[in-house]
Amino acid sequence: MAGVARLRLLQLSTVLRPSLLAAHNVRCHGAASAVTARVKRHMCSAPAYKHILIEKKGEVGNVGLITLNRPKALNALCDALMQEVQQALEDFDSDPSIGAIVLTGSEKAFAAGADIKDMQNKGFIDCFGGNFLSTSWDSVSKVKKPTIAAVNGYALGGGCEVAMMCDIILAGEKAKFGQPEIIIGTIPGAGGTQRLVKAIGKSRAMQMCLTGDMITAQQANAWGLVSSVHPPDQLLDEAIRLGEKISQHSKVIVAMCKESVNNSFELPLSEGLHFEKRLFHCTFATKDRREGMTAFVEKRKPNFTDS
Ligand code: CAA
Repeated sequence: MAGVARLRLLQLSTVLRPSLLAAHNVRCHGAASAVTARVKRHMCSAPAYKHILIEKKGEVGNVGLITLNRPKALNALCDALMQEVQQALEDFDSDPSIGAIVLTGSEKAFAAGADIKDMQNKGFIDCFGGNFLSTSWDSVSKVKKPTIAAVNGYALGGGCEVAMMCDIILAGEKAKFGQPEIIIGTIPGAGGTQRLVKAIGKSRAMQMCLTGDMITAQQANAWGLVSSVHPPDQLLDEAIRLGEKISQHSKVIVAMCKESVNNSFELPLSEGLHFEKRLFHCTFATKDRREGMTAFVEKRKPNFTDS
């Protein structure tokens, strides 16, 4: 099916979702009228998403691509955008044809952070009571399938944090990473003080968080924040190729592998090793483990059935 037609189908398939419709009707700067707008939008079958684009990429369409698309605000991560990201992630996660998900932005900005204009007049009760920066943001790190952030341009504040929630980060040569919250009188609130330390170490993370200074893609690569750096116009293809490579493997085994690596952040070594061993044992309860080893012995490609 042609790319555009497939995208249209994908978009239409989400039109009837109540949670997404609700997200639609919440504009980035203030709530919009609810029911009438909902009905109108449904009837004219407008694109399902306002702040993101979704596509299936790769030769067999097994890589889900989410493109942040709020260019005038450099992809600032307002609530409505993050709710759309959550919905798209959940849809790709439950789509059996998808093996990996790529999250990207524009050449100028992956995302310039949480929406400062939205936050400007919030008070403590708004944040605490509304659990600001929680459910939809957390969804990025809760996806079972592997996620790849393809970062061109600015990944600042929440943008850097969302990239770090992904499993792998690839950077364009002109990408800039930073946690500049200190400059606007706050601190990172979506994992910056935690994940950055684990990625690049305490001294460098402390320096970035306390100064608000940005680092280049090359520094991010040298410090281990990103896996590799690519010319900006090749970055997305590179990320999709990586997603395709991962998608060749058994989805059930890939999910176990991802869970085990991620648990290295959560568990002490002895518990982590125990968890890994148990999951390794679990792979022997799958057809794909038997198929993978049999294919090796028979000198052929495995035919995984994700079971
Ligand atoms: N929120 C809302 N709007 C933003 C934004 C943000 N985070 N970042 C950029 N924009 C808007 C600008 O206000 C501007 O809008 P207008 O045209 O309406 O004025 C538009 O995007 C273009 O931005 P600039 O004119 O500033 O573009 P530039 O090329 O001169 O600078 C930049 C680019 C260095 C990224 C600069 O925009 C900037 O410093 N942005 C803020 C970065 C930041 O502080 N991020 C952290 C936010 S707090 C956070 O994320 C908390 C958390 O932990 C989740």
